[in-house]
Amino acid sequence: MSTGDGAALIYDGDPGIDDALAILLALRAIGAGLRAITCVAGNVPVPKSFRNAAKLIELSKRDGIAHEPEIGIGSAKPLRAPLRTSEHIHGSDGLGETQDLFPGFDPRPYLAKAREGVGLIADILSREPGPVKIVAAGPLTNIAKLITRYPTAAARVGELVIMGGVFEGEGNASPVAEYNVYSDPHAARAVFASGLPIRLLPLEVTRRAVVRREHLNALRGSGSMASEFAIRALEYYIRAHGDRLGKEEGYLHDPLAMAIAIDDSLVLEEELWRVEVEVKGEITTGQTVAYRGPWGVEGNRIRVVREVDIGRFSRAFFMALKGPPARAHP
Ligand code: BDR
Ligand code: CA
Repeated sequence: MSTGDGAALIYDGDPGIDDALAILLALRAIGAGLRAITCVAGNVPVPKSFRNAAKLIELSKRDGIAHEPEIGIGSAKPLRAPLRTSEHIHGSDGLGETQDLFPGFDPRPYLAKAREGVGLIADILSREPGPVKIVAAGPLTNIAKLITRYPTAAARVGELVIMGGVFEGEGNASPVAEYNVYSDPHAARAVFASGLPIRLLPLEVTRRAVVRREHLNALRGSGSMASEFAIRALEYYIRAHGDRLGKEEGYLHDPLAMAIAIDDSLVLEEELWRVEVEVKGEITTGQTVAYRGPWGVEGNRIRVVREVDIGRFSRAFFMALKGPPARAHP
């Protein structure tokens, strides 16, 4: 797996178990192509999402990956909505109670180097000579601030891959809303209307990237820390979904977003829709409304992914976590 177009990549998210796996996938598949991880409050408060990003870099170093992406600490709360974390799915540490896998972990060296997240994204966009992709896999607070505070830098985004929204079936934060959009609906609304080149990967598609206990066997015995972490974190994640939804399975939402940013031939079908977000609903806040066909003629249209090659994604995902890391991408 590699960014066929050689784009530099920034990961903006709220690790979080599936965020963590997306970061490991990037570190192992494109190495130095991952320029930065910027954190936002979401699954866990931002100090913890930052700490988790640092833990993943540390873990990758133990697997022999020398590249250390820059880390940014972004927004501590949504633009207007209250912060709603989801430790019930991701654990008190946000990483599936895997504290014992990081004995003696010291975040201070990472804190000393950390930058303010939104400014860091703007800097990278301004200084990179080639295209920059952003994978946004948490609430869109940092991205909305990037657009208002740094419009010139934001205009340089090559592609913004967003995991969020739901157009078919039930939401996961309410009957009609997906968690990332629900968590900061005002930010999502502003980003979707911004005119940036967006590729939106909604929940009904990421739910097809199912992981069940038997899939974890593919990771056993590899000896990599990434595999050991993934097995433990996913066991927790599958159990947490089982307890809440009665289905013993989890979904690789954010790794799928990362994978299509790295290799967009995984996208088999997408459509151009105008997408709006309900921000004032009494019971429908965070709902993503698609204006398709004749409804979508006016306003900003974004690419909404409808079909991906899930089989190829799963094979590439497990292979990346298990196998030796790819040669560092410049
Ligand atoms: C999204 O919500 C979060 O809990 C996950 O990390 C993912 O980004 C799925 O709706
Ligand atoms: Ca996430």
